[in-house]
Amino acid sequence: MRYVPLKDAKVGMRLAQDMYDSLGRTLIGVNARVTEYYLEKLKTYGFDGIYIQDEFSKDIQLEPIISPQLRREGLECIRNQDIDGCQKIAKKMVDEILGKGTISLDMTDLRSYDDYTYAHSVNVAVICCIIGIGFEMPSERLNQLVSAALLHDMGKTEISPEIINKPGRLTPEEFQEIKKHPALSYELIKQRWDLSAQVKNAVLFHHENVDGTGYPKGLKGEEQTLMTKILHVADVYDALTAKRPYKDPYSPCEASEYMMGGCGTLFDTETVLKLLECVPLYPKGTDVMLSDGRKGIIYDNSGAFNMRPLVKLYENGEIIDLTSGENLSVVVFGASDREKEVSESYEKERLKMLEEVKKYEESIASEQRKEG
Ligand SMILES: [Fe+2]
Repeated sequence: MRYVPLKDAKVGMRLAQDMYDSLGRTLIGVNARVTEYYLEKLKTYGFDGIYIQDEFSKDIQLEPIISPQLRREGLECIRNQDIDGCQKIAKKMVDEILGKGTISLDMTDLRSYDDYTYAHSVNVAVICCIIGIGFEMPSERLNQLVSAALLHDMGKTEISPEIINKPGRLTPEEFQEIKKHPALSYELIKQRWDLSAQVKNAVLFHHENVDGTGYPKGLKGEEQTLMTKILHVADVYDALTAKRPYKDPYSPCEASEYMMGGCGTLFDTETVLKLLECVPLYPKGTDVMLSDGRKGIIYDNSGAFNMRPLVKLYENGEIIDLTSGENLSVVVFGASDREKEVSESYEKERLKMLEEVKKYEESIASEQRKEG
C-alpha cells in the first residue's frame, strides 16, 4: 500500500482504503479502480491524496492508528456536540491505541475540506493520546486528555462559517472573532459535573503559548497544566499537516522543524520532544527522492525520529537501508521536495564536502599513527 498525492493519482489505480465524505458516507470503496469521475470528485471534496495498492508496494503494510469506524463515530459526536458521546469515544480511542503493540502515525488521515474542524479534532485527540502515553499517563488521565481534545474546538460551530473557512488572511476583526472559540468551547462544557477541571482548563487554554503570547489569558508555561501544553502542541502539529483551501499541507518533516523552532516560545520543549518521538519524519508508503536523483518509497523506519529510513527504489525494486554505511552519501528529500529537481550542483557540492571530510579524517588518523 502506498500514498499518492491527488495530483499524481492516475486513472486505473486501485484504492487501498474506503474514502468517506464529511457525513461518513462511503464515497469510493476499497478495491475500486480510480476513474476520471472519481478523480474529479475527490478534487472537489478537497482530498489531498489517496492510498492505493499495487504490485510495487504490496509488501508495505499500513494500518490506521484508530479504526475508520471509530474515527467516523468521533466525527459524528463532535458534529452533534454530543459531549457524552465524546467521552465514550475518548475511552474507546485510548483502549484501541493502548491495545496496539507499537504506536505509529505512519498513515495520513484522508480528509476533505468541509469536515476540517471535526476531522482535526479527532486527529488532535489521537496525537494527544500518543503524547500522553509518552508521558506515561495512566489510562484515566489519557481518557480526560483525549476528551479535552475532542471537545477543544466545539465552540467554532458558534462562529460564522465564512470566517472559519475563509480562504485567506483574516482581518483583525475576524481574528478577534476566531479568538473567542476557546471560551465558546468552554461555555459548552463548564456546567458539566462529569468533566474534570483539568479537561475544562485544557479546552479554555489550548491556544496559550509558553511565553505568554497566546490567548485568551496570555498564560505562561509555568501557569499551564501538562494537559494544556499537550493539547496546544497536538493542535498546531495537526493544523500544519492539514491541507486547507488556502495552503498545502506541511510534510511531517517540515511540521517537525516548525515545532522544534517554537520550543520554549510557543511550545513546551518536553512536550514537543515527546511528539517527535512518535512522528515518523518520512512516513511509510510515501514517495521520496534521494540526493543522487533516484526515486523510491519509504519501505520502513528502523527507529523513532528516523532521518534515515529504508527506501524501496522504483528503478529496480531494491530496498536500501540508509542507516548502513555504504549509503551514507545519500540524503532523502521529503514528499514536498519531490517536485523540485535535485540540482546537480547540490549533489556535486555535497559529494565534494564528503570527500574533504574523508581526507581530513584520514589525515587525523595518519597523524595519530605517527604520534603513536
Ligand atoms: Fe482552537
